[in-house]
Amino acid sequence: MKTIKLNRKALIILLSVCVFVAFLWIKSRRPAVQMQHGSFFLSSFRDRPDPLKKKIEHANSHGRLNTQQNTDETVAAVLVIACNRPEVERCLDSLLRYRPSEKKFPVIVSQDCGHEETARVISNYEDKLMYIKHPDLSDITVPNAMGHLKGYYKLSRHFKWALSQVFDVLHQDYVIIVEDDLEVAPDFFEYFEATKGLLEKDPTLWCVSAWNDNGKEGKVKGDDLLYRSDFFPGLGWMLKKSLWDELAPKWPAAYWDDWMRHPAQRRDRACIRPEIPRAVTFGRIGVSRGQFFDEHLKYIKLNDHFYPFTQKNLTFLLKEEYDKMFFNTVYKVPLVSYNYFHSGKVIPAPSVRVQYETDEVFRSLANQLGIMSDIKAGVPRMAYKGVVSFIYRGLRVYLAPPRHWRGYEFHE
Ligand code: UD1
Ligand code: MN
Repeated sequence: MKTIKLNRKALIILLSVCVFVAFLWIKSRRPAVQMQHGSFFLSSFRDRPDPLKKKIEHANSHGRLNTQQNTDETVAAVLVIACNRPEVERCLDSLLRYRPSEKKFPVIVSQDCGHEETARVISNYEDKLMYIKHPDLSDITVPNAMGHLKGYYKLSRHFKWALSQVFDVLHQDYVIIVEDDLEVAPDFFEYFEATKGLLEKDPTLWCVSAWNDNGKEGKVKGDDLLYRSDFFPGLGWMLKKSLWDELAPKWPAAYWDDWMRHPAQRRDRACIRPEIPRAVTFGRIGVSRGQFFDEHLKYIKLNDHFYPFTQKNLTFLLKEEYDKMFFNTVYKVPLVSYNYFHSGKVIPAPSVRVQYETDEVFRSLANQLGIMSDIKAGVPRMAYKGVVSFIYRGLRVYLAPPRHWRGYEFHE
């Protein structure tokens, strides 16, 4: 009787051990990430040593990074979106020239379009960056009349795939998206490093952008000046993983940037943006027509020196503090009409406010004052709480709605 009891016990233990070993074996064989496009390189990526990490370790062991940088954490991955522009070289050269270290800002170039000359240019950078290729180059059918807009569909599909690679496969927490026709400023990385903490802390922020739509010569002053913007600027911008998780399931088939500006996506969140742009575009020929480039984009100015943002206290940009300070400033300065600027009178104040009550009046004043006059999803370009700040005839001007403003109006 006793031996049977013992044997039964031993059998149960043996069986449990077998079940446990089998469980471990099955777990180790299951691919961690299911890829839509089934690319071999990426399908079992999580099970492999992270190539970015490997590159960085390699760089470190070869003394390319100094000791100070060795101990630094990654700030954000830089995702360059490329297609068929060999001029991506200009973009990459500016990024690599100003990047403080590979570890802080690993660069990943994602190429769509399968363009060979562009592929050769990117390959030339060898281990200075990571190069991935969009596996889905299939055609997209769009209604006949919209054939010329196909590019907007293809690029939206590419953005979705590339963002998913960096967030879901490479497990990055922060990503700066740089399109292949952007050139960046000497303090581009410094700016993002300094503002990352704001994006981390403040749930009313959803991006940091290097762009100012009104950033033209004579319209901007102050390399240290940063703002909050209700308008999503795009063009060299940082987002975090939680935003990607929120947007990915509903990512649009086309026009992703205007889709972002829609209240359903923006949800009253703001971006940080600089007075003087930290990125400019040189892409005259692209998916959209060159007209916008010739009339507007080519005049945008690039900050040409380094401003030490990380050594400054930027907590004034957090919502509570900023809103108080911003309203106090804007609504305390003298209110003038457009005629004031040409009247020859001088008010002894460095800043003035010009008021608009309706979108129509905003547009006409914006045109007169030489700033962008379009309004998207109810928000004028670069506006915060309806206020757009810029320089006109050497004066700081706030083009602003009345003090008791009730919010942006948007009718679909
Ligand atoms: C404009 C915007 C751009 C935005 C796009 C979204 C400006 C100055 N530009 O694009 O910020 O992302 O609308 O609708 O406001 N690309 C692909 N696959 C393609 C075609 C393009 O990945 O088939 C990539 C390009 O490499 C580039 C990006 O998409 O990085 C934008 O393409 P571009 O040709 O520069 O179009 P824009 O008119 O500037
Ligand atoms: Mn472009």
